[in-house]
Amino acid sequence: MTSAPMPEFPAGFRWGVSTSAYQIEGAVTADGRGPSIWDTFAHSPGRIVDGSTGDEACDHYHRYAEDVGLLAGLGVSAYRFSIAWPRIQPTGAGPANPAGLDFYDRLVDALLAAGVDPVATLFHWDLPQALEDAGGWLNRDSADRFAEYADLVAARLGDRVKLWITLNEPFIHMSLGHGMGVHAPGRMLLFDAFPVAHHQLLGHGLAVSALRARGTAPVAIANNYSPVRLAGETDADRAAGAAYDALHNRLFTDPLLGRGYPEELGFDPAVVRAGDLDVIAAPVDVLGVNYYNPTGIRAPAEEDSPLPFEIVPLDGYPRTAFDWPVAPDGLRELLLQLHHRYGDALPPIQITESGCAYDDEPDADGRVPDPDRIAYLDGHLRAVHEAMAAGVPVTGYFVWSLLDNWEWAEGFTKRFGLVHVDYATQRRTPKSSYAWFRDLVRR
Ligand code: FCB
Repeated sequence: MTSAPMPEFPAGFRWGVSTSAYQIEGAVTADGRGPSIWDTFAHSPGRIVDGSTGDEACDHYHRYAEDVGLLAGLGVSAYRFSIAWPRIQPTGAGPANPAGLDFYDRLVDALLAAGVDPVATLFHWDLPQALEDAGGWLNRDSADRFAEYADLVAARLGDRVKLWITLNEPFIHMSLGHGMGVHAPGRMLLFDAFPVAHHQLLGHGLAVSALRARGTAPVAIANNYSPVRLAGETDADRAAGAAYDALHNRLFTDPLLGRGYPEELGFDPAVVRAGDLDVIAAPVDVLGVNYYNPTGIRAPAEEDSPLPFEIVPLDGYPRTAFDWPVAPDGLRELLLQLHHRYGDALPPIQITESGCAYDDEPDADGRVPDPDRIAYLDGHLRAVHEAMAAGVPVTGYFVWSLLDNWEWAEGFTKRFGLVHVDYATQRRTPKSSYAWFRDLVRR
């Protein structure tokens, strides 16, 4: 970590932290909430490394007031949370469950009272199980259901939410959830998962117009991006890199910004109906960028590989407890790439997730020192600043995450929080990164 002072960010830059519903809320049967695909998946033996579930998670559903206090103490201007669709529509269809809406109503009011802008994500992967039973995102109908749900939420919260995010990381939901089967709903379709991309994007586009009809808050989508690092120098390696880049970085962004799907992926276009691409390209006000690390790619070693690339570990970087390489330069590279690739079509960017997992535990004095996280955030913020200095319009940065939480297939084994959570007692202890980020935001 360099000792040079952090360069100044412009006035009005949005400083925030992010969470998601299933990872923190718990209370999975409270107030009429229906089951989601993550309840089903977590309760299936062998799916989660430590055998845990989100049944209790951080018990945020009951402790939200304490957590809003932590946000106020941190001094952030925004909090990105997600709304659990199965709390609003327990079966994914029909009228809103008032008790579910009430929870987010209380949360939003508490945030506003604390001077924190509510930034609400509508879909962070917890699809109502009843919709999955009808085919989930493979079924085009889910796009309409999503827009209907967006309308119900906006009718209640649209006067107070400051930024809507329709979908979180549709690429990860497609690839890990439907391509590789390591996330819910656990399907292993490889490239046959493409309809999941299209139907999520269609749902996004329909939700954009539902949200616009209910209020004036800006609308965004949060995509995951990972710049490609070639681990070979042959033409075949370069072709593999381009294929991976098209899949991870362009599949969702090209159509959003009016370019249609990347042709080289060769997906079956049968699911794309006339007019769909116009719905998907409805303008958004902000592009949410979630970044964790670059991806090492080379040509597949096996001739009959089902994939046109092979993912390889990247050497020469420090690593997080997730074994992810720490590469702040990848964030700068990615921001510049988006800027050059899309030019004037690119809306202002907010970094909607950036963070790292380390094995943080309280020391003998009860403090939780996490110097690696401070170094991580310091490096990534400098990278954002450099990209801004080079002309990329970035207007906000959200740390993943406020709290240690239930990290999907990794259960409770990965701690991403600025605040440590003792899951046995639900005690929250701000780590040293919390004080570091607070001081930064204050300046
Ligand atoms: C992102 C997810 C988020 C969290 C972080 C570590 O892909 O959006 O919920 O799991 O990774």
